[in-house]
Amino acid sequence: MSQAEGWAAYYEKLRGRPPRRTLLAALDAFGETPADALAIDLGCGDGRDIIEILRRGWSVVAVDAEPEALRQLAARELPGTITPIAARLEEVPLPLGVQLVNSSFAMPLCEPERFHELWTRIREELPVGGRFSGQWYGPRDNWADRPGITFLERNQAMALLDGLEIEMFEEEEADSVTPRGNPKHWHIFHIVARKR
Ligand SMILES: C[S@@+](CC[C@H](N)C(=O)[O-])C[C@H]1O[C@@H](n2cnc3c(N)ncnc32)[C@H](O)[C@@H]1O
Repeated sequence: MSQAEGWAAYYEKLRGRPPRRTLLAALDAFGETPADALAIDLGCGDGRDIIEILRRGWSVVAVDAEPEALRQLAARELPGTITPIAARLEEVPLPLGVQLVNSSFAMPLCEPERFHELWTRIREELPVGGRFSGQWYGPRDNWADRPGITFLERNQAMALLDGLEIEMFEEEEADSVTPRGNPKHWHIFHIVARKR
């Protein structure tokens, strides 16, 4: 199965699942939707989180490297405006005025040499009061031997968040199965952080 077919099968399996709780926590933490609310979803897939972001009155830049993700997203009934960008998330400039950077289960999939540069850009370009929500992967995840993915020790993750207001930092370790039915040990950090 090609990578594109693999992701298409993933979207199919997860279709209709609710938005990620990191995203919900970030949106809730904003309280009232800010004026000119603009979010970017890095590695948006077929829009699991985007529908909720739009529902809350935000505009969204939807980024995914898989054209199939954006095709499926465009085919959904969208309660608002999206700007789709088919590109690698580490290469997309953050839009001016972005207040929420969401990346659910996607940011660690960028080129590992670019992970820290991307994170620095997110930190620098978010305005005061802006938020990041998403997941990073820990070293006991059983994909940790796969190339092309970034894994962070807990203290490395905390160091990257230093200076931000941490609104959620939950470490999850669990034996479960992947959406494609393979057994897996997950080691994940669920993060919501606000720029002071
Ligand atoms: C595990 S899925 C998560 C999708 C969605 N965010 C969610 O929570 O259901 C990861 C998504 O990131 C995309 N992706 C992986 N690496 C990427 C990269 N370097 N740039 C852009 N998208 C990427 C994949 O195509 C896929 O749609």
